[in-house]
Amino acid sequence: MMEGTKRQGTEALVNLAARRSIILPAFSPYGELGGFYDYGPIGIRIRHNIESTWRRHFIEAMGNVEVDTTIIGPEIVFQASGHLGNFSDPITVCSKCKTSYRVDKLLEELFQGKGDKKSVDRVKTSRLPELEQMMVDNGVKCEKCGTPLKKADTFNLMLGTSIGPMGGTSGYLRPETAQGIFIDFKNIFRNLGLKLPVGIGQIGKAFRNEISPRRMLIRMREFSQMELEFFFDPEEKELIINGENVGDGFLNQRVNFVTREMQLENSGKDFIEITLDEGLKNGYIPNKLFAYLMFRAGEFMDRLGFPTDSFRFRQQLEHELPHYSKGNIDVEARHDDGFEELIGIAYRTDYDLSNHAKFSKSDMSVVNGEKKLVPHVVEISFGLDRIFWVLLSNSLRKDDKREWDLLLLNQDVAPYKYAVYPLQKDEGLVKKAQEILKGLNANGTYSYYSLSGSIGKRYAKSDETGIPFAITVDFTTLEDGTVTVRDARTGEQVRKSSSEIR
Ligand code: GLY
Repeated sequence: MMEGTKRQGTEALVNLAARRSIILPAFSPYGELGGFYDYGPIGIRIRHNIESTWRRHFIEAMGNVEVDTTIIGPEIVFQASGHLGNFSDPITVCSKCKTSYRVDKLLEELFQGKGDKKSVDRVKTSRLPELEQMMVDNGVKCEKCGTPLKKADTFNLMLGTSIGPMGGTSGYLRPETAQGIFIDFKNIFRNLGLKLPVGIGQIGKAFRNEISPRRMLIRMREFSQMELEFFFDPEEKELIINGENVGDGFLNQRVNFVTREMQLENSGKDFIEITLDEGLKNGYIPNKLFAYLMFRAGEFMDRLGFPTDSFRFRQQLEHELPHYSKGNIDVEARHDDGFEELIGIAYRTDYDLSNHAKFSKSDMSVVNGEKKLVPHVVEISFGLDRIFWVLLSNSLRKDDKREWDLLLLNQDVAPYKYAVYPLQKDEGLVKKAQEILKGLNANGTYSYYSLSGSIGKRYAKSDETGIPFAITVDFTTLEDGTVTVRDARTGEQVRKSSSEIR
């Protein structure tokens, strides 16, 4: 679908985002605070469409349910979840000017800049002492004052606050939306009469006190997640989703995959192709539900408009696994010169429910049919802002016919389906265009309208902001009711009756 076009890269996207207020640095009149961004009018429409696509695909089509739980939680919740004890990144602090850096990312960027892909991969497989050695071996220096950086440590990413007027209860901003789902699970399961397996999803904000937020929406301190916690009985062999046995057919799906061995051997390959069945049989994929969520993740990426060769599934290394996990596979998409994690799939076992049972002294087991159990969980967690950003960076293209950039988005995620343009500033044309616009808006196809600048400039604007079709009202429209419909992918126009446009 993007044939004949060339990818424009992140710099062009940063430029476009600023020029069209798609993304704005938060608080900019006060000077920027790293890791915080606002979405502008075009950006938020695209993000909402990604959310709707997710909701249709992972909640409604699968018979799952959705919640909205609190952002702030008391300390005990995050003691139970293990985040207060375990949720940290490697940090190095300049001994002279006290600037701090996230060590692994600093090294990755250094090697990426040198085009040394093998060393980038080696950073991913290294622990703290090896990272320290790499800093020394490569003479890594503080970007601010030039002092050599030598020592690495760990830094907890939780953002704290105090609750109540006297600050009596200490609390934290959630680092993932998942915990609210675990805490409410039993209540929802019982009151709604649910059956395992079932997913409970949530879209919302999460917070991490990132050491060095960078690269626009890739590493933020306040960000949005779409998470689905799938509760299941680990002893149940059949996989019933939405009342139907899903069978084994989906296991024949081929996926781009990176095994642990490939990473440890520094194979230099982007991925190999395997079937989900091979992934399960070779022990890369922990269980069938996990494999099914990988299958659906692939479909979702496709729906968003990621071509198959633009993303891969990467098995996390043992030392990368989050504290709650017995197996993680990330969905990573091409971005800049490498791959970026967009989705994490984790086998969380009964870790969270059992810990909340222990810390809250409440029973977290449920009755499923005849059986009482604490269910296990496979989680699929989506970094919404990253998906937004990486999708845009893959979709910002250039062809050799037009001088401007084209943001080629699928209709499902495009900010508007139509831009409506009167050909020129003429009372009759404006009136007719407004009439068409109102009709579309009233029927739920909210459309973009502009009268400013030449028609060529307006086409350029809708092309680069991801609007797939431009409807132009000209003098023929006033005679026979037809308009031109211009396809942003090709720049070609056809004449259609305005009444046919939906
Ligand atoms: N819930 C997984 C994560 O936030 O990383």
